[in-house]
Amino acid sequence: MRVLVLFAHPVETSFGAALHRQVVESLTSAGHEVDDCDLYAENFQPVLTREERIRYHDYPDNTGPVASHVERLKRAEALVIVSPVWNFGYPAILKGYFDRVWLPGVSFALEDGKLTPTLRHITKAAAVFTYGATPMRAFLAGNPPKKMIKRVLRAQIKIGAPVDFMAHYAMDVSTDETRARFMEKVKAKMAAF
Ligand SMILES: Cc1cc2nc3c(=O)[nH]c(=O)nc-3n(C[C@H](O)[C@H](O)[C@H](O)COP(=O)(O)O)c2cc1C
Repeated sequence: MRVLVLFAHPVETSFGAALHRQVVESLTSAGHEVDDCDLYAENFQPVLTREERIRYHDYPDNTGPVASHVERLKRAEALVIVSPVWNFGYPAILKGYFDRVWLPGVSFALEDGKLTPTLRHITKAAAVFTYGATPMRAFLAGNPPKKMIKRVLRAQIKIGAPVDFMAHYAMDVSTDETRARFMEKVKAKMAAF
């Protein structure tokens, strides 16, 4: 499959970066064609500008500033997101990717106020997240990143597509062992993706 990997972490030596390398390596070894979108390395600009907001609904003109990302998204048959959780959401660079690239005409069509998802060619998705919070703290906060994947993203891709949510919680008290165990889980899931 053609897998678009979206990665959002600024530090090369982070655990997140190691997870990203593992995801790309395991998917590639399994025979997938990986489009590795490292948003920081690509210097993605996450801010939706005034001009973009004015033309937001004008497909296809709205895609002009992010044409290459729209092409990459349209080519994707599967999606894997690797990211830390910041403020119980996506890091700004990843949030901005969705704001600027998942546009009307690209990820959904809007006709007479009725919204129709248009990324049905994405037939599989997975998320690999790390949290500072424990599972209980994340639960008490409503765990928005998990809902963004399991509910929002799931509704935007192929109906019934498998969506795998993997998370290492409590990173601040993680150990070599917990990180190694999570890495193994990610490796196995990606090898079987
Ligand atoms: C700006 C910022 C905001 C954060 N906000 C949260 C948060 O709301 N919830 C949470 O569970 N962890 C939060 N964290 C902790 C990160 O999730 C944690 O540092 C990260 O998952 C560790 O992975 P890394 O070592 O690869 O960066 C935050 C960290 C940063 C830097």
